[in-house]
Amino acid sequence: MKIFTEKTQIQKTIKQIKTKDLSIGFVPTMGALHQGHLSLVEEAFKNNDVVIVSIFVNPTQFDNKEDLKKYPRTLEADTHLLASLNKDIIVYAPTVIDIYGTNTIAEHFSFDGLEFEMEGKFRTGHFDGVGTIVKRLFEIVKPDYAYFGKKDFQQLTIIKKLVEKHQIPVTIVGCDIFRETNGLAMSSRNVRLKKDYKQAAPFIYKTLKAAKKKFGTKSANKVIEWVENEFSKHKLLTLEYVIIADEETLKPVKRKTKNKTYRAFIAVYADDIRLIDNIALN
Ligand code: PAF
Repeated sequence: MKIFTEKTQIQKTIKQIKTKDLSIGFVPTMGALHQGHLSLVEEAFKNNDVVIVSIFVNPTQFDNKEDLKKYPRTLEADTHLLASLNKDIIVYAPTVIDIYGTNTIAEHFSFDGLEFEMEGKFRTGHFDGVGTIVKRLFEIVKPDYAYFGKKDFQQLTIIKKLVEKHQIPVTIVGCDIFRETNGLAMSSRNVRLKKDYKQAAPFIYKTLKAAKKKFGTKSANKVIEWVENEFSKHKLLTLEYVIIADEETLKPVKRKTKNKTYRAFIAVYADDIRLIDNIALN
């Protein structure tokens, strides 16, 4: 397995790959890899000759310094896990200096309003940070296809917009949410959940599934009220938001319209750990 920490090195390898006309599938990650990430890597292998995984905890997308400090960093375990899947994976694990030089700040983007919905309301500047790192990684890796999980559905939508607006020649592939057997969406943050909270967390997906059922016969507002009420009774989980939105615009649904697809989005605190999830409603 080849592991690069400097862009000048990986760029030489990428040049060779491009001269051979081989396709590159790219999976950007912040490490602390789990089965969810591996499913993206497997997807990338289906369509590409070469697969590159980046591992970089991007400081500019964290609005909370404590969260950045506590974010798990497990590079050795990550590379072992990737090697157990396929020894030919190329890993790019740069330093902050390699990506940002001495100026660790995000560029400013307009994503046509997508950035102001949901996560954008609660995590100031988050999507500028995501846009900055993803654009820089695309410039370095020059992938043909890039793979993102639908757990971060808003991020996926924004990255599609980034690529469209900046005319970046890459196809973005959205992959289904990978869940524990109890339904909890896999996340690098899950390892930080204390026992009681880990046991409680599947309530999030259970409630989303019930909300989906109710959405068949009830208005979006009624379903939201019901979810809020369920969480208000819960002793360990604190609801930050639940929104039912149009999948394309991410704007909250006022009235259901035929031929539109909707999704319920949720953010919940389990102790000090913030978990997000979503479900397609129709
Ligand atoms: O989803 C993530 O892990 C990150 O937001 C990403 C896309 C790797 C950018 O840092």
